[in-house]
Amino acid sequence: MLDLKFVVWVAVVYSLPLHCTGRCLFGNSDYCFFKCHCDQSGQCNDEEVTCPGGCASDILGYKWMGPACQIGNLAFKKTAKHYGNSQDILRDDPNNAVDGLLEPSCTDISTFKDTLAQWGVDLGYQCRVLNITIHFPKVPKGGGIEKYRNHFLIRVSNTDPASDPGVVCIKANSDSIPPPTYTISCPDNTIGRYVYFSRLSEGYEPHRATLCEVIVIGYKKIGMNIE
Ligand SMILES: *[C@@H]1O[C@H](CO)[C@@H](O)[C@H](O)[C@H]1NC(C)=O
Repeated sequence: MLDLKFVVWVAVVYSLPLHCTGRCLFGNSDYCFFKCHCDQSGQCNDEEVTCPGGCASDILGYKWMGPACQIGNLAFKKTAKHYGNSQDILRDDPNNAVDGLLEPSCTDISTFKDTLAQWGVDLGYQCRVLNITIHFPKVPKGGGIEKYRNHFLIRVSNTDPASDPGVVCIKANSDSIPPPTYTISCPDNTIGRYVYFSRLSEGYEPHRATLCEVIVIGYKKIGMNIE
């Protein structure tokens, strides 16, 4: 379903004298505020904001959405990082969690025992984040310890590393263990450039976790003073 706020926003944008700005709002170029993700045959029409041929498929079966297919997985192939001291050689490429591949392309985000396991991705610009899906490994490293995926925190922040608390999308501080693929919705108007996953101190071995893929659904926040 389309985000109602987004529909309202598009209506507002299109009541403005766009051509006076001299900037591309919707289009195929990376410089447009919203890069369209039309399917191969479809043209993105900057004036009509349409993808007549429909939207392109994203990785893992996700489809781009929105009037010009500009709502989708913002984390795909962006730059990810580990935080805290690495524990050992188990810790692998943080970008494995944004490469569009599930197992075995995962990243172990473990740290030394004195810090919480934390991972983050830089979306590259300010984004409005709608929801986040985490793919944990079905069989976690370290002998199938499912407890590595409870007691966690997911935040959207404007700083790297997260020096502000940011917007908390979920604080899962219970013992119950979520399914290996888990989606959470962020609060309305969640805006930020960085998305962080971290374990909480109450959890089992809070310095450990493994992420296979982190899908961040949202769209680029535009810069003009029209929001
Ligand atoms: C995430 O948000 C998008 C856009 O609003 C929506 O289409 C999609 O169904 C949501 N995903 C889940 C799993 O809730």
